Amino acid sequence: MTTEQTHWKTWATFFLKRSTRALPALEQDRDYSELPESLARSLAIFQLGESGGGTIIKQALHNRLPGTNEYYAAAMALFVEEEHRHANILAMCVRLLGGTLIRSNWTAKLFVFARRLIGLRLKVVVLLAAEVVGLCYYHLLAVHLPSSRLRDQLLEIVEDERSHLYFHCDFLRSQTPSRWRKRVFVLTWRVVMFSAAIVVAVDHRRAIRDLNIGIRPVLARWKSYSDLAELLVVRDNAEQRPWKREFSNRPSLS
Ligand SMILES: [Fe+2]
Ligand SMILES: [Fe+2]
Repeated sequence: MTTEQTHWKTWATFFLKRSTRALPALEQDRDYSELPESLARSLAIFQLGESGGGTIIKQALHNRLPGTNEYYAAAMALFVEEEHRHANILAMCVRLLGGTLIRSNWTAKLFVFARRLIGLRLKVVVLLAAEVVGLCYYHLLAVHLPSSRLRDQLLEIVEDERSHLYFHCDFLRSQTPSRWRKRVFVLTWRVVMFSAAIVVAVDHRRAIRDLNIGIRPVLARWKSYSDLAELLVVRDNAEQRPWKREFSNRPSLS
């Protein structure tokens, strides 16, 4: 087995181990009425975004890109399953907050549109932007909520999203071996990430305001994770650098 095959097998095993987690029991009798309505709406939008992903499994299975194999496809299927688990948890949170689930939203449509336009590599760039946006936003929401299981669940989702970030960065790194490919990635990544940040900031502005999060901390966190993702893809030996502490939530890859 080549190093690459071992690599994707390790990721598939990593996701497989987590796939047995049961859905959490949230505090059904807890009163969340002091929390703003905009929080439920915001989580409902993310719930919709976490629900898709069928086509990327097929694409990961049938693609002929160098550096991928059946284990990458298996890891991708388990990753999508984990996102669906997030969708189920967020659906519980939305109901607990007295909100309603939605079937359509303009930012979710934009992300789906961008993912459908293009091949696997660009799809993963869009997915990576969604991971950065989601993990930073869930974290900021959680730290502005009172202590509760709902808050704990959001923080658990943040940890999952961190490993998704590493998973997609590993794939993109395998697809950008040359200097010009790295340059194309950086350009594409910055445009996609900037666009994602703007549309999400606009769509979630009420929750950001109502929870007193402030737009600056949101943008600053997106920027730092966006930079981290970029470095993980393009820099040699990124894991040995000062941001090494960010690597706690990934499998140890041989
Ligand atoms: Fe997720
Ligand atoms: Fe994710």
